[in-house]
Amino acid sequence: MFDLEPPRDDGLLTPDVKPWSADKHYFLRRFIDGFTTAMRDKWPALHYIDLFAGAGIENVEGLGLDWGSPLIAAQAPHRFTRLHLCELDKDKFAALQIRSTGFPQPQMPQLLHGDANKKVAEIVRTLSHGTLSLAFLDPYGLHLHYQALQQIASRKADLIIFFPDHLDALRNWEAYYADDPESNLDLFLGTGEWRMRKAQTPPDRWIDVLREIYEQQLRKLGYTEFEYERIRRSDQRPLYRLIFCSRDKAGGKIWRGISQRSPDGQGQFQW
Ligand SMILES: C[S@@+](CC[C@H](N)C(=O)[O-])C[C@H]1O[C@@H](n2cnc3c(N)ncnc32)[C@H](O)[C@@H]1O
Repeated sequence: MFDLEPPRDDGLLTPDVKPWSADKHYFLRRFIDGFTTAMRDKWPALHYIDLFAGAGIENVEGLGLDWGSPLIAAQAPHRFTRLHLCELDKDKFAALQIRSTGFPQPQMPQLLHGDANKKVAEIVRTLSHGTLSLAFLDPYGLHLHYQALQQIASRKADLIIFFPDHLDALRNWEAYYADDPESNLDLFLGTGEWRMRKAQTPPDRWIDVLREIYEQQLRKLGYTEFEYERIRRSDQRPLYRLIFCSRDKAGGKIWRGISQRSPDGQGQFQW
């Protein structure tokens, strides 16, 4: 089992985050363990892509310091060949740059400062067709464009996607997505079909329609395996989903294996 001692305060920028950030990392850490263990002898190189990488260490409300996703990947027991990390915020990027030097991988990391939806092309260019990647796609809201996924899908890559159905889509689609054909929701889904489907669907099914449209869009990219984890507040109100997708049954099997137990150790995860 891939467990990590909490990081020490290194005096660099450490963003404050909500407690549910730890749930994402629970699944990421376990999946990285299963993925790198199962795939290391099957592929000549394993890459880790983190388009919304953050600062590398964060301060989780009520829990204290925790490793961020790029430095969880950097400490995998079976190392990735190379990390590809992108972050828009200048100060977080600067902290990430310094922190990542403490965790050398077989190849120097590719560190990109800027908008992930643009920088993704620079990452994909470096990935040869015979390699396998894991992409962790974790913005704050609906900021991952479908066209970025299209580019990643031109290579062999499993995806873990932050899907902010309750956090963003449901809150905002009446307010400002409805009249804007270039809204975040349109760019995220890669289609404006949601307007027509929403008009035809009772409100208690809207959340399902959103998921169906996104899954249909991912299937167009060749993905066939889908697993969903619902992440909730401590009072059980739903926040977002993590979507795992792969083109290979082996990826789905690893995810199902690691998600048998919830972050609080209570057995099957609550939906
Ligand atoms: C939820 S945080 C990421 C946390 C990190 N993945 C982790 O788990 O430790 C989202 C990050 O995306 C960055 N961000 C926001 N928009 C971005 C964009 N268009 N391109 C790249 N990074 C972006 C934010 O500055 C923030 O650090």
